[in-house]
Amino acid sequence: MKCIKPLQLGVLASGRGSNFQSILNEIQKGNLPASVRVLITDNPDAYAIERAKKNDIEFLIFKPKDFKSKDEYYRKIADELKSREVELVILAGFMRIVGKPLIDAFPFKIMNIHPALLPSFPGLHAQKQAVDYGVKISGCTVHFVDEGMDTGPIIIQAAVPVYHDDTEETLSQRILEQEHKIYPEAIKLFSEGRLEVKGRIVNIK
Ligand code: GRF
Repeated sequence: MKCIKPLQLGVLASGRGSNFQSILNEIQKGNLPASVRVLITDNPDAYAIERAKKNDIEFLIFKPKDFKSKDEYYRKIADELKSREVELVILAGFMRIVGKPLIDAFPFKIMNIHPALLPSFPGLHAQKQAVDYGVKISGCTVHFVDEGMDTGPIIIQAAVPVYHDDTEETLSQRILEQEHKIYPEAIKLFSEGRLEVKGRIVNIK
């Protein structure tokens, strides 16, 4: 039997980590040939840490205020990921704009998930922005990370309806169900070498 080495992932999360969990679930079900090498968080209270503990995954807590500069913070994170031979970095509710040293260390090897159909509604509270704007369709986007805020090349998107009586909470829940499907899918495509980036276009081979 051919034995393929699982893709080594490094996950960055700041909060509850339900996307982190959905990735772990797909790995455990045998649907995703990957392994989470380390969780890095900027928040000592992140529930993602509990998930790492339950799954015997190493976790590191780095707070930006303990570093001299933003560059130093991201250089440290890049070094920790590199020293563990991480091949793909997964932002799973990491509530910061990633600094250049990390982006340079992992070119087109950092993914993020955003709870809107980019380029609509980048930034914080994307679901509230969608409800307030009155769009009839929203969704989520997995994209590669560049130095901008939610501006990198788009890998996959999923759409959901927005109903007239939706609140930020009800729409967030509907979108989250799709997030948990498309993030593992995007990682799987990467692991199969099927993502080809040309400028800002990602071709799925
Ligand atoms: C998700 O809505 C994701 O799209 C956004 O942050 C939230 C993280 O949720 N980037 P969780 O921590 O994965 O549950």
